[in-house]
Amino acid sequence: MASLSSLTPPTVPVELYVTNREKLLSSLRHHLSQSSRPIHGIVFLQGGEEKNRYDTDHTELFRQESFFAYLFGVREPGFYGAIDIATGKSVLFAPRLPAEYAVWLGEIKPLSYFKERYMVSSVFYSDEITTVLHDEYQGSGKPLLFLLHGVNTDSDLFSKPAEFQGIDKFDTDLTTLHPVLTECRVTKSDLELSLIQFANGISSEAHVEVMRKVRVGMYEYQLESMFLHHTYMYGGCRHCSYTCICATGENSGVLHYGHAAAPNDRTLEDGDLALLDMGAEYNFYGSDITCSYPVNGKFSSDQALIYNAVLEAHNAVISTMKPGVSWVDMHKLAEKVILESLKRGSILVGNVDDMMVERLGAVFMPHGLGHLLGIDTHDPGGYPKGLERPKEPGLRSLRTARELQEGMVITVEPGCYFIDALLVPAMGSSNTTKFFNHEAVSRFKGFGGVRIESDVLVMDTGCKNMTKVPREISEIEAVMAGAPWPLDKASTGKG
Ligand code: GLY
Ligand code: MN
Ligand code: MN
Repeated sequence: MASLSSLTPPTVPVELYVTNREKLLSSLRHHLSQSSRPIHGIVFLQGGEEKNRYDTDHTELFRQESFFAYLFGVREPGFYGAIDIATGKSVLFAPRLPAEYAVWLGEIKPLSYFKERYMVSSVFYSDEITTVLHDEYQGSGKPLLFLLHGVNTDSDLFSKPAEFQGIDKFDTDLTTLHPVLTECRVTKSDLELSLIQFANGISSEAHVEVMRKVRVGMYEYQLESMFLHHTYMYGGCRHCSYTCICATGENSGVLHYGHAAAPNDRTLEDGDLALLDMGAEYNFYGSDITCSYPVNGKFSSDQALIYNAVLEAHNAVISTMKPGVSWVDMHKLAEKVILESLKRGSILVGNVDDMMVERLGAVFMPHGLGHLLGIDTHDPGGYPKGLERPKEPGLRSLRTARELQEGMVITVEPGCYFIDALLVPAMGSSNTTKFFNHEAVSRFKGFGGVRIESDVLVMDTGCKNMTKVPREISEIEAVMAGAPWPLDKASTGKG
């Protein structure tokens, strides 16, 4: 069968997890010595559990808990993992499966299988945790377990520290591990980058497939389906990084469209803009890509105005990104470029610096410019201890306010939306009403919005866009009309 993809799913190097564990060990040892604490104890994590729906035959497709995936790469549910801080030895504890597992779910793998597959020092059963960790322990008194407990600054949820029978036979530390491990995940190794790049490559291809096949009269979910098919069929991506947002027409102004109550089920109409935010996950590592374009293949002048405003912001940010640059400044840069374009397009009037003072950018782009990306779509580490979340509208939505660092992967996702819930109060407010050309804004009733989202790696002196999709209007229109992607010389007219 001819493949519609130029990519082959890469073999996942197990060394990736060995490298991640080594990174944690060296950070943790450094942290302990800085605080004059002994370099001993055991990092101890519990992996995720499979979930069954009550009283049915349906098991939700299991996806490993992200911190556990980071350190061990284990795809099976019900595991625990330990890393001895002094020796660096790593141990997995597998669930002892009942004999009937072999009848319904396949061969019960020997422990040696997991030892080899995940390149750990040893593997035992989870009912042996207490004995094994006590036997291995070199120090005096109760062994000390470093458990994972801390808040995710995006979701405000706490990671659950490991629980097992016999935990009372250990001393536990609940505060040290989470910030150190979270910080490890902020910058990516080359092995991690190869997976993020693959997820980006296959998702970029899938976006192009959808762009080629979209037609007026289709349902939004058909676009979702085409994306999922491509990334699974040719990329082996069984999971997405997040639920697909296939928003057309007015829905493109609903930032998190596609959820259960708005399930990508509208029919595409001539003149609609589509905002498609879809990204596949490959072996835990994700992508997060948004393309916006008219479903009929031709941008109207208003669509082009808003699209180019957002594209200019996207490009301005990417050409400024490098280590040391503040992400808050990048958000403001994007806002400013968008406001200037809206002013040039006679949608706004007045001084753009005055608009910035009034935080007008947040009316059109209420979300943050972008977020760290890795094993989680919104990867943790955006607000390490001591870094305050900004309080102003728009800026407070930023999922990080850090300075960029080499090795970070961060999304650049400016947007411009016409959301009544924000526009109506701003147009009525005595501080901001003067900035609006009210008649021009009324043309955009029901317009929805545009978002352009790429995944960008921060490098030593600049950055690299890992996402490869048509972005210029001429490129999008050419691909929608049947041109190959990347465009060849004939399609660009450059000879
Ligand atoms: N797809 C979710 C986001 O862009 O953050
Ligand atoms: Mn994103
Ligand atoms: Mn997205």
